[in-house]
Amino acid sequence: MSYKTKIFPATESHIKDAAAALRAGKLVIIPTETVYGLAANAIDAEAASSIFSAKKRPFFDPLICHIADYDMLEILTDHLSPALKRLTKKFWPGPLTIVTIKSEKVPRIITSGLQTVAIRMPAHPVAISIIKEAGVPLAAPSANLFGKLSPTRPEHTLDLQQSVHSIIDGGPCEIGVESTIIRELDGKIVILRPGKITPKQIEETVHMPVITSNETEVPDAPGQLPSHYAPASPVVLIDEGETPSEATSKSVLLAFRKDRDNSPFMAATVLSATGSLNQAASQLFDCLHKLDKLSPDTIYVERVPSKGIGIAIMNRLTKAAFNKVG
Ligand code: TXA
Ligand code: MG
Repeated sequence: MSYKTKIFPATESHIKDAAAALRAGKLVIIPTETVYGLAANAIDAEAASSIFSAKKRPFFDPLICHIADYDMLEILTDHLSPALKRLTKKFWPGPLTIVTIKSEKVPRIITSGLQTVAIRMPAHPVAISIIKEAGVPLAAPSANLFGKLSPTRPEHTLDLQQSVHSIIDGGPCEIGVESTIIRELDGKIVILRPGKITPKQIEETVHMPVITSNETEVPDAPGQLPSHYAPASPVVLIDEGETPSEATSKSVLLAFRKDRDNSPFMAATVLSATGSLNQAASQLFDCLHKLDKLSPDTIYVERVPSKGIGIAIMNRLTKAAFNKVG
């Protein structure tokens, strides 16, 4: 018997099937411009609860709701502040998630009991078609087991395929790191998770102070937990060009931009030959998935410059490295 996956091309008929399954309360893995999402009908509490069991995600970690148009926004929230409204007009569809007061219709399981709900309109034609066809907002966290590497290609989601109706192939994700999450608090915009949309872009749009939330023990966005996005092998961060004395032929290297001396590593990959941070972000999780498959004793990763989307890359890498042994 040949092994068959549930990955299907994004044809009209597969999109229709996926939407019907979503309406019937099932889970579907959908592409977005950031990472693949594990989607369920956001206004069906039972469907949403199966996301948590499939991902082994703790119930204290609330979900992001995805919408295809502004009518769907009104299902999820009764009121948007002028600043959040302006930001959605500027950056949607796109990798910006806003946290705002939820409407009565949003089940408590989606928001983990919080009075607020996280919402975004993805900039991916396949995601938009699936949401429109389903006719309801879709709750969708990244389609990975809780705490593991995020998926930027359909094959990265195969761990979850037993739990889903289908995986819709929208190609590799263009951005490659999750959306920027923001909320408004006391006349300021607070960044709960860094992403492609930068503090400067936000500030230029709303002319308000933009601050990055401090990581606390009870995180505002559990994506802020200190350990997250982790491959099976330990990750150790190094400086560009550095060869750690502990590295062996059982270790692998993820370099930022230059082809460099590959000894003593078993394998080495470059995020972006030209040093483009956007390209590095889009390759990040795919390279980590591939290097992790070699079961190295350690994955050494070069730090990237902390500017623009580089801040989001370093945020994910720091969390991936948090559990390192020794
Ligand atoms: O790019 C993305 O945002 C991807 C794609 C699939 O859209 N989604 C994603 O979802 O990264 P997830 O579940 O992996 O991360 C969602 C983050 C979590 O850290 C969660 O705690 C936070 O959003 N979040 C959700 N609702 C929230 C709320 N009401 N207040 C604060 N944080 C919230
Ligand atoms: Mg995630």
